Amino acid sequence: METKLRTGAAYYPEHWPETTWTEQARRMSELGLTTLRVGEFAWALMEPEEGRFDFAWLDRSIEVLAGEGLEVIIGTPTAAPPQWLTKRYPEVRLVDERGVRLPHGGRRHVCITSARYRQLSERIVRAIGEHYAACEAVIAFQTDNELSCHQGACYCPECQTAFREYLRDRYGTIERLREEWDADFWSIRPDSFDDLPPEDWFLWMSMQHPALKLEYQRFTSCQLCSYHALQWKVLHATAPGRPVFHNMMGLHGGFDHFRMARESDVVGLDIYPNPSGPDPKTGNLHYHPVRLSMVHNVTRSLRRDVPYHVVESPLASVNWTRVNALPRPGQAEMWSHIAFAHGADTYLTFRWQAVRSASEKHHCAVLMHDLRMDGPNVDTARRIAANAGAMSRDLAGTLVRSRAAFAHCYENLWQSRHHKSARMQDYWDLWLPWCEAFFALGVSYDVVDLNHPEEWLPDYDLVILPYQQNLSDAMAGALRRFVTGGATLVATCCTGWADEFARMRDVPQPAPLADLFGIVVQTHDPLEETRTNAVRLLADLARGEPSPVSHWCDLIEPRGAAVMGTFEQDFYAGSPAVTAHEAGGGKAWYVGTVPGDELATVLVRHLCAACNIETHDFPPRVQLLSRWADDRRRFDYYLNHTPHEVTFKAVQGGRNLLVGRGRVNTLTLGPWGAAVLEVEQR
Ligand code: GAL
Repeated sequence: METKLRTGAAYYPEHWPETTWTEQARRMSELGLTTLRVGEFAWALMEPEEGRFDFAWLDRSIEVLAGEGLEVIIGTPTAAPPQWLTKRYPEVRLVDERGVRLPHGGRRHVCITSARYRQLSERIVRAIGEHYAACEAVIAFQTDNELSCHQGACYCPECQTAFREYLRDRYGTIERLREEWDADFWSIRPDSFDDLPPEDWFLWMSMQHPALKLEYQRFTSCQLCSYHALQWKVLHATAPGRPVFHNMMGLHGGFDHFRMARESDVVGLDIYPNPSGPDPKTGNLHYHPVRLSMVHNVTRSLRRDVPYHVVESPLASVNWTRVNALPRPGQAEMWSHIAFAHGADTYLTFRWQAVRSASEKHHCAVLMHDLRMDGPNVDTARRIAANAGAMSRDLAGTLVRSRAAFAHCYENLWQSRHHKSARMQDYWDLWLPWCEAFFALGVSYDVVDLNHPEEWLPDYDLVILPYQQNLSDAMAGALRRFVTGGATLVATCCTGWADEFARMRDVPQPAPLADLFGIVVQTHDPLEETRTNAVRLLADLARGEPSPVSHWCDLIEPRGAAVMGTFEQDFYAGSPAVTAHEAGGGKAWYVGTVPGDELATVLVRHLCAACNIETHDFPPRVQLLSRWADDRRRFDYYLNHTPHEVTFKAVQGGRNLLVGRGRVNTLTLGPWGAAVLEVEQR
């Protein structure tokens, strides 16, 4: 696939009379779009009867698009099976957590464990791959659509049998499972794997045994990943040379994103920024730039070797939030800049033309129902395409490089949902102050997989380990190597409580790394919303007032660590809140609370300085991200996330790819404006 920046939309030719296709393609090309994603819900048309395939309509549509120089990504249609399929094979319909088998008529109402569904999926995917192997206009494939969206796990009899097998494989003997699960508790004690899951499966699930819940989530994740991988392999075999991806959903976390990314050629992201806002700092509606940045960083890091694709993003109002309010003028264009700045090479919007009926009739599109070519969404799409066109030659294929990272694993996200304190269950929100700090200081970060430390260990100088209760011995060993190898690790409260079976450890916290951090956590004080505390840092870290903290305070006993900050209030006033411990050549910091933005920023500034990572001070809500070329060039992408004009000095002067192309040192960015400076790497 040619390296370039791509813009375009999801396109459903099957929703429109064929007589309109040529005019639609002409309009797309007139707007400067390059790429359309098609097909991902059209199984009923591609295979109208079992075993009879009809791609003629799609061939004609692709021919029309190709006639205008447009490229096509085909989505496999397995998120929406045809009626004949669910009628003939009712066992493929998903059983939800209430025990209800879902009816036909929605989407994702299928069990992807079902051998029948896998067989039928494989057949349609193979037919697509074979049919389009020689079609030059088809540049890539998407598998299915947003796996685990709408419906999470399935609990049908076939899943139960498969889960039993999964447990057998994982634990070997029932005695081992009983031990790891403390299964004598309330006489849960299964006599054999055949008792798992028991007859009253749904009731049993609701008893919330944390190990059972974690294992079921792991099992579901394995099923989702292997279902995607099945399609990935079939497409590789039948239509070689086309990248295959899945459109993941950022922070959704219904499966192990790292694993799926490894079994893909590139990463796809669907991102709908509306529900993320408002920005707590500025009050700007529907727009929380730090959270948006986090979604892109999480996604980009899944594959650090290749730019990712934004496959869906809205231009205006969606149809599924409470109010579906309109983004402010300039914001939707800024969403595309955010993607390109974070390392995406593709930005597609959802969708080309607004559907007139069905459940998404109120959803925005490039062309709204009135089909006007002078509407605001059309203008935005045109600008996004023009920006990409202006930057493509230089920016395409370049990568983001970070020396700081967050380390985590999806098991921890799942386990956090069973946290002792309800306030600590909102996993990603707890990351935000740390992300806010990196954002404010213009420092780029990645997000790496604790389950595969060999992929990243040597690459970073500074790693944050946020609220990682789930810590296997292997993970702990890797973190120890990271620190003794000379790097800096920052762990937070709740580190290392449990092992990979969700079983609490019987050694002092932060088990099993208490010696690395040089502390022991004696107990903790979870804080209600109405209570806060504050942390006073050592004078050489911060001058001035103590900084607020929330959610949780650890009562820490230093065992060799230096105390870097203390709590201000309550019966533990004066006791350690932040500690640092030299270990080998590196340093292990522990922050026994949830910092606010201020504390996190002071700490990150200090840590970056200690690690020799450059920080910057820009006006509020101005962000810098850099993409690096293989030659000596770097592209510094500046984003103004405010509705006001801002003027500031660039870190390094350079040629602006977006406007004028003359060399600039001082930047003036309009509301929601951006600039991309080409500079020499240093
Ligand atoms: C996405 C989905 C699309 C469409 C869109 C509407 O989650 O992949 O098919 O439904 O939401 O915003």
